[in-house]
Amino acid sequence: MGISFLGLGYALPAQVLSNFDLEKMVDTSDEWITTRTGIKERRISKEESLTDLSYRASLQALNRAGVSPEEIDAIILATLTPDLGFPASACLLQARLGANRAYALDISAACSGFLYGLELAGGLLASGRTKKVLLVGAERLSQIVDWTDRSTCVLFGDGAGAVVLSSEGEGELLSSVLRSDGSLWEILYAERCGYIKMKGKELFKIAVRAMAEVCEEALQKAGLSVEDVDLVVPHQANIRIIQALAERLNLPMEKVYVNIHKYGNTSAASIPIALCEAYEEGKLKRGDVVLMTAMGGGLTWGAGLIRF
Ligand code: ACO
Repeated sequence: MGISFLGLGYALPAQVLSNFDLEKMVDTSDEWITTRTGIKERRISKEESLTDLSYRASLQALNRAGVSPEEIDAIILATLTPDLGFPASACLLQARLGANRAYALDISAACSGFLYGLELAGGLLASGRTKKVLLVGAERLSQIVDWTDRSTCVLFGDGAGAVVLSSEGEGELLSSVLRSDGSLWEILYAERCGYIKMKGKELFKIAVRAMAEVCEEALQKAGLSVEDVDLVVPHQANIRIIQALAERLNLPMEKVYVNIHKYGNTSAASIPIALCEAYEEGKLKRGDVVLMTAMGGGLTWGAGLIRF
């Protein structure tokens, strides 16, 4: 399926919250957080709204793509933390950008939101009725974190990533495998206007197994093997989950992009931010085969394999 990433962008709030800052807020330590999660610091947005972050990331992606907002047919925004109950954050972004021809909708698939959005965008582009899609993953998880709960508050951060997708160009969506199991919702959820609640240990085990399965299935569907993959961009939830996944898939860590130490878990924003950083650093090149995978609340999980 033809799907080209014409431009990538990301935006992070300026405020850094380090593990040492957290030591002053809850009973934790830099040593515990680093060894159990790989996180050293995260970004927290006090002043910028979700729309502000999404707008900055989208503008960068559009500028890099050389595409004007009026050329966008659809805006898909994946988030758990919209600015309003309704309308969709994608509509607020559409207005801010002046994307006057675009229809706009949010999707709620937690940390898998970007991969769910990619599958939907792929379908819209394949229909031929939609030529260009702006796909955004954006979160202000700091709004739904209980800052007195050390078991969750050390894990999450804020940020946004955006990509401009087109059916024209060299890129391809080689395969995509998405799953959900709502019977497991209580492992990770937030009540309406409530805080994130998580059974971390259970989720850890499910995440490694489930992501490995969908990665293998995505490779199989595309007729490729692990050796054909140039770069893996996993959802950044925990360095130990990423390492265990790499081990299961027989993947050297040199092929796996990691930035969790800087941003923590930014849910739907984590994969597009990582893709964009990898591209800026020259670790992601045109023509590369890239495997992305995520697991999150729902439970939802999936893998997407692209030729970039
Ligand atoms: N600082 C110090 N001690 C802590 C902290 C902390 N921040 N948090 C927990 N502890 C303590 C616990 O109380 C426990 O103490 P006890 O043994 O006296 O009871 C001990 O550390 C061990 O706790 P565990 O929960 O067993 O620690 P674990 O090694 O499982 O790591 C973690 C916890 C990091 C949450 C891990 O389980 C994990 O990453 N899980 C998966 C998270 C994930 O994948 N999320 C993705 C989806 S997110 C989304 O969709 C929005």
